Amino acid sequence: MKPEVKPANPLFSSGPCAKRPGWTLDSLKDAPLGRSHRAKIGKSKLKQAIDRTAEILGVPADYKVGIVPGSDTGAVEMALWSMLGARGVDMLAWESFGSGWVTDVTKQLKLDDVRIMEAPYGELPDLSKVDPARDVVFTWNGTTSGVKVPNGDWISDDRAGLTICDATSAAFAMDLPWEKLDVVTFSWQKVLGGEGAHGVIILSPRAVERLESFTPNRPLPKIFRLTKGGKLIDGIFTGATINTPSMLCVEDYLDALNWAESVGGLQGMIKRSEANLAVLRAWVEKSDNVAFLAKDPATVSNTSVCLNITAPWFTALSEDDQAAAAKKVVALLDDEGAAYDIGAYRDAPAGLRIWAGSTIETADLEKLVPWVEWALEEVKAS
Ligand SMILES: Cc1ncc(COP(=O)(O)O)c(C=O)c1O
Repeated sequence: MKPEVKPANPLFSSGPCAKRPGWTLDSLKDAPLGRSHRAKIGKSKLKQAIDRTAEILGVPADYKVGIVPGSDTGAVEMALWSMLGARGVDMLAWESFGSGWVTDVTKQLKLDDVRIMEAPYGELPDLSKVDPARDVVFTWNGTTSGVKVPNGDWISDDRAGLTICDATSAAFAMDLPWEKLDVVTFSWQKVLGGEGAHGVIILSPRAVERLESFTPNRPLPKIFRLTKGGKLIDGIFTGATINTPSMLCVEDYLDALNWAESVGGLQGMIKRSEANLAVLRAWVEKSDNVAFLAKDPATVSNTSVCLNITAPWFTALSEDDQAAAAKKVVALLDDEGAAYDIGAYRDAPAGLRIWAGSTIETADLEKLVPWVEWALEEVKAS
């Protein structure tokens, strides 16, 4: 039967993600538009964004937080280009974003000493094989497979290499063990429902030490440069950005941070997201039609929840027909205005991907579940 009640907010995209409950354009009215980002007001907004990020995420006092160009990709790539090559690197990849960083390191940077440790969609590589003598690059939460690392226990406290962690769909949704992480990156349009544009890069003292002691033998574009004359450019970490940021995006980020605080900060956001995942987990447990793509329950993401369609009529289809049927389910829900953007990522197995981060209301996920079941029945019958 077609459900009667739709989610009040049908925005379940995994990026840009839903804005915080109650957001309106009016929330941005204090943005210093038309002013220089280097004026007192601009700098002070950028500094606030940095300080409050550190405070809410519990970043250690001796780490540096900077706002950089190019969203999360910009932040990750400036780390790869500036820091890799000093020692061998282990590249972990279990979905498309991790694979993208492998491509950077092998085909663009063309580093000599690279070990690639991959796993198929739904799984993690063997984390115990990571060598603490080497650098390691990994994604905390694989947004396109819904597989996260369960914790940082596999990272040595006595490591000699750096840990470079793409945490874009994990920051503000999962506990990040800072003492295990040397470089952490994220962008604003994910867990916080901010605007896409800028990246955040967080550096441990060891990462700063690498930057100040190692000069890679390759050209570095200005937007990747974190040092000058062998010293960290401190301004980047106090609000003097490398180039011009959008003060509208900054205002929106500050609004998102205000909201984060209002729901109990990091732990409040994690709790909201876990409650959202619990709704989807209860559905997966009782339905024969869907299963988590993540094989190990400890690795199921509480933000980008990826689901296989397991209904017997669906699994009996060829791979191409499965992809077409999954698209139909997604299109039907879109037409009905019950859910937008919940198709699996283009490189991932056919299925669904539903964002369950804290900006999503649990009641909306409860309303979504019967709609997906209905759409599956409709496509089955078609
Ligand atoms: C794990 C991961 N890394 C990188 C990116 C790219 O992020 P951005 O678009 O902010 O550069 C995404 C975006 O979905 C992601 O999920």
